[in-house]
Amino acid sequence: MEKILVLDFGGQYNQLIARRVRDHRVYAEILPYTADLETIRKNKYKGIIFTGGPNSVYDMSSPHYTKDILSLGIPVLGICYGCQLIAWMAGGEVSTAPVSEYGKIEFCAKPSPLFKNIEERSVVWMSHTDYISKMPEGFENIGTTDDCPCAAMQNTEKNIYAVQFHPEVTHSQYGSQMLYNFLYEICHCKGDWVMDNFIENTVEKLKAQIGDKKVILGLSGGVDSSVAAGLISKAIGSNLTCVFVDQGLMRKDEGDFVEKTFTTLFDMNFVRVNCGETFIQKLKGVTEPEEKRTIIGTEFYKVFWDEIRKQNELGYFAQGTIYPDRIESGKGDADKIKTHHNQVKMPDDIEFLGIIEPLEDLFKDEVRRVGERLGIPKKLVWRQPFPGPGLGVRIIGEITAEKIKILQDADWVLRDEMAKNGYEKNLAQFFCVLPGVKTVGVMGDHRTYENLVAIRAVTTDDFMTADWARVPYDILAKVSNRITNEVEHVNRVVYDITSKPPGTVEWE
Ligand code: XMP
Repeated sequence: MEKILVLDFGGQYNQLIARRVRDHRVYAEILPYTADLETIRKNKYKGIIFTGGPNSVYDMSSPHYTKDILSLGIPVLGICYGCQLIAWMAGGEVSTAPVSEYGKIEFCAKPSPLFKNIEERSVVWMSHTDYISKMPEGFENIGTTDDCPCAAMQNTEKNIYAVQFHPEVTHSQYGSQMLYNFLYEICHCKGDWVMDNFIENTVEKLKAQIGDKKVILGLSGGVDSSVAAGLISKAIGSNLTCVFVDQGLMRKDEGDFVEKTFTTLFDMNFVRVNCGETFIQKLKGVTEPEEKRTIIGTEFYKVFWDEIRKQNELGYFAQGTIYPDRIESGKGDADKIKTHHNQVKMPDDIEFLGIIEPLEDLFKDEVRRVGERLGIPKKLVWRQPFPGPGLGVRIIGEITAEKIKILQDADWVLRDEMAKNGYEKNLAQFFCVLPGVKTVGVMGDHRTYENLVAIRAVTTDDFMTADWARVPYDILAKVSNRITNEVEHVNRVVYDITSKPPGTVEWE
């Protein structure tokens, strides 16, 4: 499989670059700028893309790379900081620009293989305070803006290209075409990254790796673990056992839905472990969000380890980890916002042959495409993400059986109304939260002192950032009315109008 390397210099769009490359049917992987040159040489990449980054190349503490990378004979494309870095490495000069450019800027392109099939004048997305003040020798200027005399440059002999703007964001009018040109005109890729190949290759690999051994898969009923189950089941059939942990923090009827789907859909063994009471017991009196998450995560895995111990032969443990999970866990110096439930630490006394994560290189929408091709029902493949800790991170303060019931009932009303109005497809995720606040109200001439429910609905592509959804007032009014009428112990409903950042999608 041909591969493009996205060399990460700390840019916020590194995943987006990989995504765009893969949209053009070429596999892309991201490595940090600390990856050594020998690894890069050995991996035989078809091309390398340097990402943007928040630093200045002339600040010696900012991320740099040995200039030998420009002599590997592999085509290179530098973006933003990556563009400046190339100029710097090749002997040019970079300094603070007299005018910073942010947002949509008119760009004037000169002839270049990178700009094949784009118009001379187009709009690009800029975000920079430094610029190339002197081009390095051997390079040719291939683009300008009013305030940036060298907005793009090339060295066709060495196959090195650099653009000051961000072709990976959709605001760059021909950005996608430029990336396409880099892949096909400059790197001469064939475009062999297609989902059908992925399924075939993965199933073959899994068969070879697992042989006649057994696999236990931790199934949450979410998209990722379901698709992982589908792939492994295709490879090894009934040697796969999916363990579904119903931690008592699922949405209303969710556990039954997962059980029904999996027992009828695939050739595999399905074990449902109902341990709601244990979870509530462990969470008694706990109010601190990270403590809750840790307890839930730990309990989750205890169930899996128990199932592994029950097997009388050594097997594998599988889970539905996807690419962004891996990347986020790999960012050693990033601030920890919240501990995701599948960041497992293996206990020492567990023996198994290894971990299998067949989706570890895929993005969410690629996972969904694999799911569809495997014949997994759309209802499951396109369902919204549901956090492993479930309603546990949507009940603020102590979790009790009564609060879980209130939240399940309120959430069910919200889902029902969204579905009835055909609005659910417009949103990436929506749910109710129980903030643990009681307020005074009046019902049937009586004073009430009952719970407040918050509605959270967001739009987003990648869940790294999100905007609060502009759900029509009529739908919100109906939901509010139904929740206060149909759900016991709720007398007030509010709508969360916070984006991410500064909020996160979940409240805890
Ligand atoms: P946040 O709250 O971090 O959520 O903005 C982003 C997305 O991740 C989901 N989420 C989780 N998913 N285990 C998961 O599998 C977790 O522990 C977890 N915490 C948050 C959240 O629902 C949203 O889709």
